[in-house]
Amino acid sequence: MTIPLSRPPVDDEIKGAALAAIESRQYILGPECKAFEAEFARYIGTRHAVLTSSGTAALWMTLKALGAKAGDEVLVPAHTAFPTVEAICFSEATPVFVDVDDTYAMDPADAAQKITSRTVGIIPVHIYGHPVNLARVQELVSRHGLWLLEDCCQAHGATWQGKKVGSFGRAGAFSFYPSKNLTVMGDGGILVTDDDEIAARCRRLRDHGRLNKDVHSEVGFNLRFNDIQAAIGRVILRRLDAMNERRRQLAARYADRLAGLPLILPVEQPAARHVFHLYVIRTDRRDALAGFLRERGIQTGIHYPVPCHRQPAVEHLNPPALPRTERIVREILTLPLSAGHTEEEIDQVAAAVREFFN
Ligand SMILES: Cc1ncc(COP(=O)(O)O)c(C=O)c1O
Repeated sequence: MTIPLSRPPVDDEIKGAALAAIESRQYILGPECKAFEAEFARYIGTRHAVLTSSGTAALWMTLKALGAKAGDEVLVPAHTAFPTVEAICFSEATPVFVDVDDTYAMDPADAAQKITSRTVGIIPVHIYGHPVNLARVQELVSRHGLWLLEDCCQAHGATWQGKKVGSFGRAGAFSFYPSKNLTVMGDGGILVTDDDEIAARCRRLRDHGRLNKDVHSEVGFNLRFNDIQAAIGRVILRRLDAMNERRRQLAARYADRLAGLPLILPVEQPAARHVFHLYVIRTDRRDALAGFLRERGIQTGIHYPVPCHRQPAVEHLNPPALPRTERIVREILTLPLSAGHTEEEIDQVAAAVREFFN
């Protein structure tokens, strides 16, 4: 039996919600979408939530609504999923890559060094489910008059000083990709904001720039969401806190079982509540350990082996070296973890890691 990296939930309540949405015969931006938007906004603590087809679409629309354009520079960690950077490129602004700190999130000190007269905003990523140091990021943003767009695609429900990520910046973007803490059985995304204009502009952009049924005030695209997936999302949202708590318990179990090994384990800053989208360990014997686990039917991942500033797609920007990012990408290894894993599976993985080092 293999132990998968992630195991999304599938059960009768979820299937029932999808079936009811099918029978409603309202499929695009219908009542389930409206209810999911209202419930998600309430959960995060923002005035608005706008559903869209992916986390990438949420980032791109928000960048457009923030006015990002050619010539603007946007600070972004190099250690993220490429879509964070792609959205900046798609808005025609220029990504400026920032190094990581010990939580693997953007290092605010390095970000400060990278600010120029062309910098307009900053997209920190709450990578692996751990919030970036929001106190220092917010200080930077207000000192330099920048906007803050939080990439929360891996951090549904994570908090900083008790407040949900996504509610700190001008907006926050979330992904519902199947392995995420909140999933919708396919692609999907949502952006949250307190800003009426950003919300209204994104609602237009996701639907061909439509002002109303017949009038298009600008060129948008089809980035809409659907009611079957929204119905599923509503079920999972009601379980999200319990599922995050379960992830935290399993992460604590790993920490206990892996203690004392020559590994770097995840850390949680005092102000942060980590939601463990991914459980990432570090070792300079990463590839050998991954191979050893694979032989025992244990899936692992590397998030991410090629840092964004070394991707061929952005080679033309000539990004400078980022020593910490370049070092950790050779050492990181993601172990299986999701709310659907059992204690026995976590113990089995931890025992195999222990066997490798012994
Ligand atoms: C940090 C981060 N940003 C952006 C995205 C893009 O989200 P999506 O795959 O829904 O477009 C992802 C998900 O892959 C992500 O992990």
